[in-house]
Amino acid sequence: MLDGSDIMLEKAKESLSGDNFEYIHQTFESFIDEPVEASTYDFICSSNAIHHLDHTEKEQLYNKMYKALKSNGLFINIDPVLPNSSLSEKYQFQLWVDWINNNLKDHGSQDKIGKYDHTPNSYKDKDENKPSKLSTQLSMLENVGFKDVDCFYKYGVFAVFGGTK
Ligand SMILES: C[S@@+](CC[C@H](N)C(=O)[O-])C[C@H]1O[C@@H](n2cnc3c(N)ncnc32)[C@H](O)[C@@H]1O
Repeated sequence: MLDGSDIMLEKAKESLSGDNFEYIHQTFESFIDEPVEASTYDFICSSNAIHHLDHTEKEQLYNKMYKALKSNGLFINIDPVLPNSSLSEKYQFQLWVDWINNNLKDHGSQDKIGKYDHTPNSYKDKDENKPSKLSTQLSMLENVGFKDVDCFYKYGVFAVFGGTK
């Protein structure tokens, strides 16, 4: 498990039990810069992190992950992606807000409905979030060499996509 934040790694340790985990405190940027051991992993999965990298860094990281996978290994990225147009963004942000409010309702927090409606725009305004379009990233994966490249699930801006080596 690799993350640039010690705090996040500590949280992961609390959630996971067993010895079969390695916790690596490293940024994606330094992972990209270092040589990678080829054909090591059967499965690489990333969740809600790669959208912090810019276009070029994403490409470099996908390249490294491809190298690190064994033949037929699978890479899955669960990440927010950039809507294709402002109209698409409007609908996808509304889906996000509706999802939050429905969850608040289902969990008996009716008093908080509407309180988090700013969430999608706050996410968009933060410089640390650099989502790329889904179509761009699917092409990136194919160009790196991945096969079976596809989006397996998408709800608004949140996508599950990847491919095999
Ligand atoms: C929204 S959190 C998701 C954490 C976890 N992967 C999950 O799904 O619960 C985003 C994570 O990306 C990590 N991150 C952001 N930029 C990074 C970078 N350049 N290198 C390594 N990790 C990074 C942060 O430290 C943070 O833990």
